Amino acid sequence: MSDFNRDTFGFIERCRDYGDVVCMRFLYVTAYFLYHPDDIEYVVSTGAKNFIKSRNQRSALFQRLVGNGLLTSEGEFWKRQRRLAQPAFHRHRINAYAETMVDYAQRTIATWQNGEERDIHRDMMRLALEIVVKTLFNADVSADADNVGRVLARITTPFAGQATIKWILDNRLPTLTHRRFNRDAREIDAIVYRIINERRRGGQDEGDLLSMLLKAHDEEGSDLNDKQLRDEVMTIFLAGHETSALTLSWAWYLLAQNPETETKFHAELAEVLKGRLPTMEDLPRLKYTEMIAKESMRLYPPAYALGRETVQECEIRGFRVPKGAQVFMFQWVTQRDSRFFPQPDQFQPERWTEEFTNTLPKYAYFPFGGGPRVCIGSYFAMMEIVLLLATIGQRFRFSLQSDHPVKLIPAMSLRPKDGVKVIVEERR
Ligand code: HEM
Repeated sequence: MSDFNRDTFGFIERCRDYGDVVCMRFLYVTAYFLYHPDDIEYVVSTGAKNFIKSRNQRSALFQRLVGNGLLTSEGEFWKRQRRLAQPAFHRHRINAYAETMVDYAQRTIATWQNGEERDIHRDMMRLALEIVVKTLFNADVSADADNVGRVLARITTPFAGQATIKWILDNRLPTLTHRRFNRDAREIDAIVYRIINERRRGGQDEGDLLSMLLKAHDEEGSDLNDKQLRDEVMTIFLAGHETSALTLSWAWYLLAQNPETETKFHAELAEVLKGRLPTMEDLPRLKYTEMIAKESMRLYPPAYALGRETVQECEIRGFRVPKGAQVFMFQWVTQRDSRFFPQPDQFQPERWTEEFTNTLPKYAYFPFGGGPRVCIGSYFAMMEIVLLLATIGQRFRFSLQSDHPVKLIPAMSLRPKDGVKVIVEERR
């Protein structure tokens, strides 16, 4: 346990040396680490009925944050909520958000000065939060964005820390950490309730996700009560911005270290856009930009682990896995496995040809998960990432500050510990 806490990534990488299925115990919890794409496919997709989300996602602290929203709910209830939210994520609807995405990116970079120092991760977090709230809830959180960022950074406890006695106590006793967590959660609650109440007062149907949820709430006999509404909004609020922001931050970080890739990226922008702003119609031709997004998510997957619990005994790769076991799969390790990715530690967007994609085992690359619980926002996220890379990359490039090495922290998602500090250069 102490190894796991001290060096989470090293630990989960070293475990793979024991095989594709590794079993261990953390206190009273039996855990299995799965590394092979076929077994990952079984857990998240073909055998999904044998699993629910893992215990750490049902902890009191996590529940306090996202409650019984889409990410954490199970069974018939989850099915109903997913059906309810799905229309807001249909392609034709998402396509209409392209202009807002580009517009918000423009607003963000309008204040940047050539040669100034910035934490690009903080900028991306703020931008992605504003976009998700504007497009899905038609609300503005510009004034609250920094505050939300600060509270979120405090609230999301490192994954490894969850296997400690301290975490278990924090979950059950009113410790100082627990009390501070609750205070922070109340602060975000207030913003979420403000968004809901503003829309209620306005009364009009905006045709967005929030309207769909409110309509279901108002239908006679609906069980989407106030708390449930809050849980769904909070889930999208959290799941819908940090992950996209991280992909962008890691992409800028990788581009800054790979000048040849950066040159090709700039060449594509010049050829496709010829100096104008990107639109929805440009997406099919921004192929190299899309490859950069995919390769960034391979090396730095924002969701670096998936967790499930067995609801009945099952067999994985010939091993009997008992009921109640915790099963973990790691994008961080499998997406860097040399059996599936030649030169796995190198940033090579070129590898993502159609031919390579078609021969890759399905779950060797799974940044958005898969099966019935696959990310509902994957199309939204890919479109947002490509449009933002194009809008920002057309005007600016970044160099890393040599005195600020970037350290990873395995929090709820794969974060840069103290941000990504860069010098902003305006492109001529
Ligand atoms: C690069 C960006 C993103 C990544 C890497 C990502 C990753 C993931 C992953 C891995 C899961 C599956 C979790 C599991 O199986 O346990 C998931 C689920 C989910 N994501 Fe995303 N996500 C991204 C963007 C978004 C966006 C933009 C939204 C919403 C606007 C969103 C909303 C959700 C929701 C609601 C779920 C739960 C779905 C369900 O269980 O039915 N995500 N995401």
